Amino acid sequence: MTRTVFYTATTLDGCIADPDDSLDWLLRQPQEEGGAGDYAEFIGGVGALVMGSTTYAWVLAHEQGVWPYTLPAFVLTHRELPLPASAASGEPADVRFRSGAVVDMLAELRGAAGAKDLWIVGGGDLAGQFADIGALDETVVSIAPVVLGAGRPLLPRRLDLELLEVGRNGSFVVARHRVIGALAEDRENG
Ligand SMILES: NC(=O)c1ccc[n+]([C@@H]2O[C@H](COP(=O)([O-])OP(=O)(O)OC[C@H]3O[C@@H](n4cnc5c(N)ncnc54)[C@H](OP(=O)(O)O)[C@@H]3O)[C@@H](O)[C@H]2O)c1
Repeated sequence: MTRTVFYTATTLDGCIADPDDSLDWLLRQPQEEGGAGDYAEFIGGVGALVMGSTTYAWVLAHEQGVWPYTLPAFVLTHRELPLPASAASGEPADVRFRSGAVVDMLAELRGAAGAKDLWIVGGGDLAGQFADIGALDETVVSIAPVVLGAGRPLLPRRLDLELLEVGRNGSFVVARHRVIGALAEDRENG
């Protein structure tokens, strides 16, 4: 069954990007291939990905317009955005623009992932939109030894989670959590 997984990296104070959408603080961190939270292992279990338009713009800028993914990628936006100029695979980039409530596209996203997982690339509010409808299953978060004081939030919701796994990779703490649901206090108070 397809699980929905928010796999990302954050600062210790819960920012996934700085206020200017820079990830410089992240890209300079040392990482060990094959270590906890290993990207190659993670992506092997992913069948499709979904991201918001800010993340899409960042990926395109970072990769100089060359789309790095071969899996179906859903980009959520209310605007008309350009497709990537080219793809690293040499095939046309499989980028599908969608807009609206996540609940209305969930079946399509899960279907595209097949028997594998759906990766929520970011940002945090998008992961929150899945959590709002009870469709965020797991988070895998690599915590960098950085605080920024302000930036794009990791997951701006009130949720209870269960710690499943913790490890170290280079300078990162990697934590995998199952999402239980709304904070117990919020559930009790109706
Ligand atoms: N640390 C990491 O590993 C990591 C991972 C991923 C991303 N990031 C970074 O984190 C930042 C995230 O940016 P962000 O917080 O702005 O989030 P984002 O999810 O990347 O982009 C948000 C935008 O996506 C569009 N959108 C979101 N939900 C939608 C929906 N249901 N229907 C239609 N459009 C929707 C809206 O823009 P429009 O409608 O105006 O297009 C919204 O303003 C970026 O800088 C990104 O590069 C970091």
